[in-house]
Amino acid sequence: MRPSTPAYLIDLAVIRQNCEVLSEIKARTGCRIIQALKAFALPGAFPVLRDHLDGCCASGLWEARLAREFFGETVVTCGPVYRDTDTDLFDLSSHIIFNSLSHWYRWRDYALNHPRYQQDYISYGLRLNPQCSTGSTPIYDPCRHGSRLGTLPSSLQNADLEGLSGCHFHSLCDQNSDALALTLEALDLHFGDLLRLPQIRWLNMGGGHALTRVQYDQKLLIDLIKQSQDHYNLEEVWLEPGEAPVLNAGALHSSVLDIFQSGKETIAILDVSATAHMPDVLEMPYRPDLTLDGSPPLDRGAHRYLLGGSTCLAGDIIGSYYFHRPLRVGDRLIFEDMAQYTMVKTTYFNGIQHPSITLRDENGKDETIRSFDYEDFKQRLM
Ligand SMILES: Cc1ncc(COP(=O)(O)O)c(C=O)c1O
Repeated sequence: MRPSTPAYLIDLAVIRQNCEVLSEIKARTGCRIIQALKAFALPGAFPVLRDHLDGCCASGLWEARLAREFFGETVVTCGPVYRDTDTDLFDLSSHIIFNSLSHWYRWRDYALNHPRYQQDYISYGLRLNPQCSTGSTPIYDPCRHGSRLGTLPSSLQNADLEGLSGCHFHSLCDQNSDALALTLEALDLHFGDLLRLPQIRWLNMGGGHALTRVQYDQKLLIDLIKQSQDHYNLEEVWLEPGEAPVLNAGALHSSVLDIFQSGKETIAILDVSATAHMPDVLEMPYRPDLTLDGSPPLDRGAHRYLLGGSTCLAGDIIGSYYFHRPLRVGDRLIFEDMAQYTMVKTTYFNGIQHPSITLRDENGKDETIRSFDYEDFKQRLM
């Protein structure tokens, strides 16, 4: 039976297929691949991810706790900043990456005196800014002018690097390995001397690699990883994709609640929202794929609708779509590829119904693992 709407439906069999691709890359390169929890953090899916991946990438304290509680001991924490009270990170993480040298200096004494460091259970790295913009969306470009993400080469002059044994960069966004090749060239230009220091044992190449897309050039990725390993004499290369392990593994089921005319537009209002339930649709922005009666929309035709969300935001618009028949109140529209950057980012804006979460297991059986009600909305505010 299909879940009642609104609902996210997560398909574990698809996650398994994606992870098998990642396992193959690991086997052919010896690299480590971890799930970036910022994109997808559903403990119910961790058993499948854990069969193939090495651990998690956490952006901060709560993700690190979740990773340690439900996934395992390899927790690579990489946040723009850590609060003075975040000392538990040193018990939870296997690696902590610092965004700037000033932040590293602030934490260094604590970090180097921590018993887990002295017993070699944790190591520290520095996030670098390769200064190589390869994407097209400024909001997702950590190399943009004045970026607050990653250390610039100019900051490294006279730097004291004692205690650092790894480097990290993250500058891609759903890109192919040709963008990684360009980035690695820039990295070598700006940071080659640093990477060749014997103390640097690992390089983390961040996320944004579209590893599970059909058109992804895996051979180039594999060559680039091997070249980096040899070139800098690295013990470990890490990738921390968020999207790739769960690509196409989630759908957002919605229903049409109202249909009316507004000037030349025919509006259909749904029981989901772009701003509250699929925020990247507005931030990127992009037009999500969907199906009606199992069919994708047409490129053109007679039945055109502007699909709107159910919040008060004037721009809570999902997009304009042509359908093979007129929409009716009660129709189910299923938005595709909704596992990543949705459930981790949703809000209770306007107090509208939050989609429930249903897991489809590898035998095709569905179980609703979380429903939301008024108490959930209220508890966040009191
Ligand atoms: C530091 C870092 N690592 C990994 C990721 C995951 O990226 P993606 O989901 O595009 O693979 C991100 C995304 O913003 C990130 O900022």
